[in-house]
Amino acid sequence: MDLNELIIRKPTSDDDLEKIAELLYNTDPYIYPYWFETLDKCKKELTPLLLEKNFFFALDHLYITIDSNNNDIIGVICILDKNDDLSYDYSELKKKNERYKFTIENYIEGLIEEVDNADFAYISNVCVDANYRGKHIGKTMLNYVIDIYKKKLYDYIVLDVLAENPGAIKLYQNLGFEQFTEVFQGFNDPTKKRPDVFSMKTK
Ligand SMILES: CC(C)(COP(=O)(O)OP(=O)(O)OC[C@H]1O[C@@H](n2cnc3c(N)ncnc32)[C@H](O)[C@@H]1OP(=O)(O)O)[C@@H](O)C(=O)NCCC(=O)NCCS
Repeated sequence: MDLNELIIRKPTSDDDLEKIAELLYNTDPYIYPYWFETLDKCKKELTPLLLEKNFFFALDHLYITIDSNNNDIIGVICILDKNDDLSYDYSELKKKNERYKFTIENYIEGLIEEVDNADFAYISNVCVDANYRGKHIGKTMLNYVIDIYKKKLYDYIVLDVLAENPGAIKLYQNLGFEQFTEVFQGFNDPTKKRPDVFSMKTK
């Protein structure tokens, strides 16, 4: 694919929001299936939330990549920094079910607190449509977003990647990200001897 045929921009409410929800769901094989159970449920429940102001995955916190040949959305990145308003009130969502409550309290609220106090930007999601992988679209999207945040004079950009995702780790290393810590949550190894997640940052 000719990378000049890609359009990278922030999404609007006129875009295919279900497709954006689908790409967000596909960024991680644990959190989103745990949270929403199925892709269909995710599309139904996450899609309207994307329009909520100050929500973690609000449109303003996302970049999408479009194939200009067919106008399909083929990639998404969610990136946050302390200038983003992340003050969405999660209390109604928490009441909906235990899974939301658990995920929001342990995952999203923890990240929001970290980002709010930090001098770095945080990439929380990167996903390329499965039919378009291996064509340097992920690398192009990331370079685009990294350039924007470098101009905002952030010292560095942080992201977390599953230890079992060597392809993504290689991609990030090629872009200059280095591992600075590892997290043992016991997803893969209940004895917590093997790390589940690596935190990486740009130099
Ligand atoms: C990870 C992901 C975003 C990569 O996007 P992509 O467009 O397929 O990756 P690119 O083609 O831009 O890869 C750029 C470089 O990264 C490395 N890389 C990317 N995917 C790789 C893989 N599966 N295996 C080995 N290396 C890989 C390669 O070095 C590659 O360069 P090369 O092709 O010149 O060798 C994509 O595979 C994806 O969406 N996966 C599912 C969601 C996910 O895992 N997201 C990351 C969560 S942290």
